[in-house]
Amino acid sequence: MKDSNFLKEHNGRLMWHPMTSPQDSIDNPPKIITGSDGVTITDVDGHSAVDGVGGLWNVNLGYSCQPVKDAMTAQLDKLPYYSTFRGTSNDVAIELSYELNKFFEPDGMSRAFFTSGGSDSVETALRLARQYHKLSGEAGRTKFLSLKKGYHGTHIGGASVNGNTNFRTAYEPLLPGCFHIPAPYTYRNPFNETDPEKLAQLCVQALEDEIAFQGAGTIAAMIMEPILGAGGVRNGILLITDEVITAYGRTGAWSGARLWGIQPDMMCTAKAITNGYFPFGALMLGHRMVDVFENNPDAKIGHGYTYSGHPVGAAAALACLVETKRLNVIENAAARGDQLFAGCQALMEKYDIIGDVRGGHGLMTAIEMVSDRTSKKPIDAATASTVQEVAYQNGAMVRVSGPNLILSPPLVVTQNDCNILLSAIDAGFAAA
Ligand SMILES: Cc1ncc(COP(=O)(O)O)c(C=O)c1O
Repeated sequence: MKDSNFLKEHNGRLMWHPMTSPQDSIDNPPKIITGSDGVTITDVDGHSAVDGVGGLWNVNLGYSCQPVKDAMTAQLDKLPYYSTFRGTSNDVAIELSYELNKFFEPDGMSRAFFTSGGSDSVETALRLARQYHKLSGEAGRTKFLSLKKGYHGTHIGGASVNGNTNFRTAYEPLLPGCFHIPAPYTYRNPFNETDPEKLAQLCVQALEDEIAFQGAGTIAAMIMEPILGAGGVRNGILLITDEVITAYGRTGAWSGARLWGIQPDMMCTAKAITNGYFPFGALMLGHRMVDVFENNPDAKIGHGYTYSGHPVGAAAALACLVETKRLNVIENAAARGDQLFAGCQALMEKYDIIGDVRGGHGLMTAIEMVSDRTSKKPIDAATASTVQEVAYQNGAMVRVSGPNLILSPPLVVTQNDCNILLSAIDAGFAAA
């Protein structure tokens, strides 16, 4: 390995990083991670921290999951690649579709389309939604609805349904025909409503108003992340749940759809499907999609990725499913999620800098930082990064995104790991 100085010097100069400016990578060099063990990561200077981010919401089983590593190594020796484009397939991809269809059967899913990640799964869902309506004789249904504040990856389709200005403006004009409705975000919403039930009703009303305004017959699908709330689907509009984060146990349920007791038409999954060890994703398809695509000789899917059904990714995903079920990770996700949520609420009593704490559904907790609780003015970037840096020095890697400090550790964290995370962020807030 090149030495620490070489890596630090060349990182910002030679590599553009996602979601940051090239200059920022030079001015504020990132932590260079070089090692891992269990749920702990180690940087190039030898400093270790509990990974409160879980890689990027994907390393659900931690960094030392030997059965997954063994399955990938064995697959590399046997068949490192073969395509699933027309005319060929591979045994592991077939076995994986069998297992995934069983896993997501309670959500009404019965087919899989493999991708290389979350943005690909979203893109596939949007395309297949339009094709579904064309095949059903309703070619006028082309529009998409989504929630403000939602995140659906970075392809042009996904960016168009994204509900965050930061991911949109630089790339406009985006796809026409994408419309956003308010999300049930109790801390800040256009209705000034803090009661979750009432707010949900207002958002549903906004959704119904938008459908009526656009004309129901022009809308192809609604896409949303399940943890943001419940949505209604009717008028022939397809429902796509973007479960890139929520599938495979993170919410304390096996999927976000199951958490809310809904059955979508398509579910976008990726991330934890391979525990972050291989770029891979699966779009799961429900019976409405199956009925239309499988009973129509014209239903040729003109879409796919070189790495759709990649055998090494499929082998990793099969081993992840076995481990995820064997460890019954939803139980620990729920218990440790409650611990972190309660711990963050206790910190809110201590620090005015904390404006809002969100969580309560597994290992997805966010602290929204403000510089003034009354006006809810968002925290400045320098103070937010002090919290992050001091937490890191105290043994916790946490993610700061805008004014939010996000905790999404592996689902196998222990009570003690969570205590370390909480006391490290406590130190971060004390310093800020
Ligand atoms: C809900 C959701 N959808 C889509 C994506 C995009 O996934 P990827 O970064 O694997 O392309 C993400 C990534 O964080 C996500 O959280």
